[in-house]
Amino acid sequence: MVVRLDVTLVTSNPGKHREIEAILAPYGVRVRALSRTLVEPQAERLETVVDAKLDQLSSLRGFVIVEDSGLFIDALGGFPGVYSAYVLQTLGLPDLLRLLEGKPRAATFRTVAGLRRGKRHWLFPGEVRGTIAQRPRGRGGFGYDPVFVPSGARSTYAQASVAQKNESSHRAISFRALGMFLSRQSPRL
Ligand code: IMP
Repeated sequence: MVVRLDVTLVTSNPGKHREIEAILAPYGVRVRALSRTLVEPQAERLETVVDAKLDQLSSLRGFVIVEDSGLFIDALGGFPGVYSAYVLQTLGLPDLLRLLEGKPRAATFRTVAGLRRGKRHWLFPGEVRGTIAQRPRGRGGFGYDPVFVPSGARSTYAQASVAQKNESSHRAISFRALGMFLSRQSPRL
């Protein structure tokens, strides 16, 4: 990989770092992960959460990236959505699956990637449709990966390799747009 640009990804999730590193490598972007405790506002949209996190990172130099993701289940009116992390910690996958018994299982996984440089912010949303599996399957990935089956696939994300997940995941869509933006803009920024 020819490194054209270094960026700082603020996350404490090694799974996200692994995926984002691989997605951005073809754009010549090298990703350094930095763990920071950030305040998350209660908000209905991932975009609002990402903007609020970027606002807290004014002390970092260069290109700074944060991202927020959520699983939006149709039959639950978009729940857990922006509360995905909290719901996984408190309810967990087995109770979430119980809530879905007898209900349609269509869902959307969404990511919003946020980029900051100086005082400017740019947001890059990405989403993928899929279904919630009847039971958790697979040992790879993280979070909701064992129960999310993207449309057109039979396996959950946890049964796929990082490379397979990165072919078309919500995160890949959002970070490819960010990678393209960086490769077009970097000489001028
Ligand atoms: P956050 O973006 O870290 O706030 O993510 C919200 C919740 O969704 C956390 O519990 C994550 O583990 C989970 N999550 C985020 N991205 C993914 C993914 O790509 N697959 C499965 N779970 C995810």
